[in-house]
Amino acid sequence: MRQAGRYLPEFREVRASHEFFEVCRTPDLAMEVTLQPIRRYTGLLDASIIFSDILVVPQAMGMEVEMNPGPHFPDPLNTPDDISKLSPSVDVNKELKYVFDAITQTRKGLNGEVPLIGFCGAPWTLFSYMVEGGGTKTFQKSKTWLFKYPEESKKLLLRISDVCVDFLVGQAKAGAQLLQVFDSWAGELSPYDFSEFALPSLQAISSGVRSKLAAEGIPVPPLILFAKGANHALPLLAEQGGYDVLGIDWCIDPVEARRLVGDKVALQGNMDPNVLYGGKDAIERTVKRMCEGFRKDRGTKGWICNLGHGITPGVDTEDLRWFLECVHKYSRN
Ligand code: CP3
Repeated sequence: MRQAGRYLPEFREVRASHEFFEVCRTPDLAMEVTLQPIRRYTGLLDASIIFSDILVVPQAMGMEVEMNPGPHFPDPLNTPDDISKLSPSVDVNKELKYVFDAITQTRKGLNGEVPLIGFCGAPWTLFSYMVEGGGTKTFQKSKTWLFKYPEESKKLLLRISDVCVDFLVGQAKAGAQLLQVFDSWAGELSPYDFSEFALPSLQAISSGVRSKLAAEGIPVPPLILFAKGANHALPLLAEQGGYDVLGIDWCIDPVEARRLVGDKVALQGNMDPNVLYGGKDAIERTVKRMCEGFRKDRGTKGWICNLGHGITPGVDTEDLRWFLECVHKYSRN
């Protein structure tokens, strides 16, 4: 996830001499940092995720985004009139070609060792960055939009969905073997507002990606949705979301999550990443309990082991190795 690289000294070394978006835009560098954890934890990881960021989509739509050290938009969308500042149409094959090139090159670099995940941000999460101009604790500006200008908000959300569809289709064509959508701020919406604003744009992405790839005769890779904090929406998303896998954070018990989604989707998650600060015993205990919760006989659709959010910068690389070893040990049966 967004902070995932920073616990690795080899990542910090690359970043010492290259700006964040420079790494995203340079396929050699993006491949290098994508491969770093795969190399360090040989045989322990089952997939890699392309190095990029969800904010490349607002950039492709014509917005300026800096990373210093968090995201900053010098010219955010203050009112619906500002929508006219966005590019009227976005050619992702031009604007985001660097991501596609990084994916194709990284697939070659991985040489079949593990599959490569492509991703994008969900419209509601991207909308909130584009309107707030960066991170926020209150969501005051983005909620003002939703409640004062609901129709304009929905239009903008669907306009972002259109770009996400083309972006994910392009990533699949470039070689991505799974596609994940990150709705990091899904949990900021009430269940009603989630269905009203976030869900339609998430459905537009899953159905758009499926139909566009099918029209070109390209197999559709598994689609993963991580709607952080929106565990209330698990039954709805399993039923109507159009995704094969739902990611979950640590605020729901695996047994309960499986009960809510039935056998409709696979689950991905969900250890609290902060357990990685608790030392080897805490990590082992928690992994054991997580594996027991996601046990195979609780559902036929399977489980992808993951953390419930990104790895934070202070995590000890050997504690992370221990986490991975425990996962292999306790998930075997
Ligand atoms: O795991 C990976 O390294 C894969 C690449 C990846 C990044 N960002 C690189 C990154 C992925 C999958 C993301 C997704 C992302 N980006 C999300 C969704 C997942 C989540 O974390 O909720 C979001 C919300 C963003 C936006 C973003 N990017 C923020 C808010 C920040 C600042 C984080 C902070 O705490 O300061 C980033 C920066 C970012 N993206 C970093 C990395 C490795 C760290 C910045 C750096 O290297 O200086």
